Amino acid sequence: MVNPNDKAPGAGGRAYPITDHVFDVVVVGAGGAGLRATVGCSQAGLRTACISKVFPTRSHTVAAQGGISATLGNMHPDDWRWHMYDTVKGSDWLGDQDSIEYLCRNAPAAVYELEHWGVPFSRTEEGKIYQRPFGGMTTEFGKGTAQRTCAAADRTGHAILHTLYGEALRNRTEFFIEYFAIDLIMDADGRCRGVVCIKMDDGTIHRFKSALTILATGGYGRAYFSATSAHTCTGDGNAMVLRAGLPLQDMEFVQFHPTGIYGSGCLITEGARGEGGYVTNGNGERFMERYAPSAKDLASRDVVSRAMTIEIREGRGVGKNKDHIYLHLDHLDPKVLHERLPGISESARIFAGVDVTKEPIPVLPTVHYNMGGIQTNFHGEVVTKKNGDPDMVVPGLMALGEAACVSVHGANRLGSNSLIDLVVFGRAAGHKARELVTPGEKQPELPKDSADLSLSRLDRFRFAKGGTPTARLRHKMQMTMQNNCAVFRTGEVLEEGSKLIHEVWSGISDIGITDRSLIWNSDLIETLEFDNLLVQAVVTMDSAVERKESRGAHAREDYPDRDDKTWMKHTLAWIDEEKQKVNIDFRPVHTYTMTDEISYIEPKARVY
Ligand code: FUM
Repeated sequence: MVNPNDKAPGAGGRAYPITDHVFDVVVVGAGGAGLRATVGCSQAGLRTACISKVFPTRSHTVAAQGGISATLGNMHPDDWRWHMYDTVKGSDWLGDQDSIEYLCRNAPAAVYELEHWGVPFSRTEEGKIYQRPFGGMTTEFGKGTAQRTCAAADRTGHAILHTLYGEALRNRTEFFIEYFAIDLIMDADGRCRGVVCIKMDDGTIHRFKSALTILATGGYGRAYFSATSAHTCTGDGNAMVLRAGLPLQDMEFVQFHPTGIYGSGCLITEGARGEGGYVTNGNGERFMERYAPSAKDLASRDVVSRAMTIEIREGRGVGKNKDHIYLHLDHLDPKVLHERLPGISESARIFAGVDVTKEPIPVLPTVHYNMGGIQTNFHGEVVTKKNGDPDMVVPGLMALGEAACVSVHGANRLGSNSLIDLVVFGRAAGHKARELVTPGEKQPELPKDSADLSLSRLDRFRFAKGGTPTARLRHKMQMTMQNNCAVFRTGEVLEEGSKLIHEVWSGISDIGITDRSLIWNSDLIETLEFDNLLVQAVVTMDSAVERKESRGAHAREDYPDRDDKTWMKHTLAWIDEEKQKVNIDFRPVHTYTMTDEISYIEPKARVY
């Protein structure tokens, strides 16, 4: 409904006509998590809108390669408890074990559902879903190597995303495509009431009122200079949550994937090592044998990335500058490459000029995944620490996928646990939505000024006439994150990083915009995305300064050991935008499981 009388003023005093929409549920994001939640909500009879910044099948899930973990047991006997043990160990005991139990128990059902909807999984000789080995996945609580990662060649995300989009259309979800969500609408009682968006083909403003808003907006890889993430991965939902006065959790944990192509950062799936690939240093040595004698190249990602970084730092890299590592697939049967790894064979040719049947691929650890994000419970509901309760539900708001921190990945995610996280918790959100929302229920009017704050922020950037172009500040942010919040960290480097990233934050006041239009790729839209990235970069750096131990992806050379006595807790970070300050607090890790069918897995040394 266009409401011509409702023209919320921006800071510049300009009025924006607002188009209003009302839905039972609004899902922001059309990747695997968003679409899976969308399907569930639509199937529950809820009028559901799915808002997406890009065309749904261009969401970043499309780039997921190696597979989706679930104990189907197609290659050998398997058990969800073994998957749970691996995930807890992979998380370096920071994951919440009730959520991890939920994930691993429900994984097979979520994968069979995808199969029935038509995901074209690769097949075994007997016609079952093909499963490959992936890092950190074992049988019998660490004894053997598991083949647990269900694959559609090396284009699993592509297959899943396209299938889910079809399923959402079949269930009559209403899509709002190339709408950029800029802020949550929160009421005085702390309930989320919807979102404000820019429709990027005509630059109009849209306000969505909903009984339930679900954020599935992905990670913020582009806060770094080199990432496997698409340029659209700007963590918009995370930033909206920070602006709404809620914290982000465990932001110091940023995963570096061991095998990004040197130079471009393009992903070469861990499935390549699952199929028998291995890494070598400048001496031609298979160095992973020294770092992870048992799992070797299939140790978890933080372990492999650290090993590669040490080899390079100690002068044993490859290439003219000895600044990268080789990944070998040239010994594999060309039939395996053709059938199981066609996509990365093509990527290696295009981005590294390498024929994988003959030469190794030059690779480097590259930013890949954010373990941190919006704090939720295993129903997908956003929770926060409030009035002494560490897990108080924020009504009307859910978060899923990489945007969320549920927390199943803790300090380090295992490969292929991301796709399963999307669909298991996307499905859970649908179930919870069915309980929480009555189809067509009347929602209270939104306050007249519900879009004002958001539009003043928009205007602040739109008419900014400072002397610093967005691209210059963004580059400074990305280089600071890359140099000061990387695979290895020290207090000194992080403190310097904090100073530099806060300088970028204060530099926002001098930003200058040239193309002020509200349509795709304009300077303004990129500036809004940059502002989103920046607040996440700041809380990432400051959370990393705070955590004085090494755990999972947070490897501090000045505090090399995990310290369970002091640090078995999640970091929560809020921002005060006006004062440009970060406030940090903590909440305890859940030291309990969901049911009595498995007991809490006690922390121990993490060796592979
Ligand atoms: O290596 C990969 O295929 C990535 C998978 C993942 O991040 O889960």
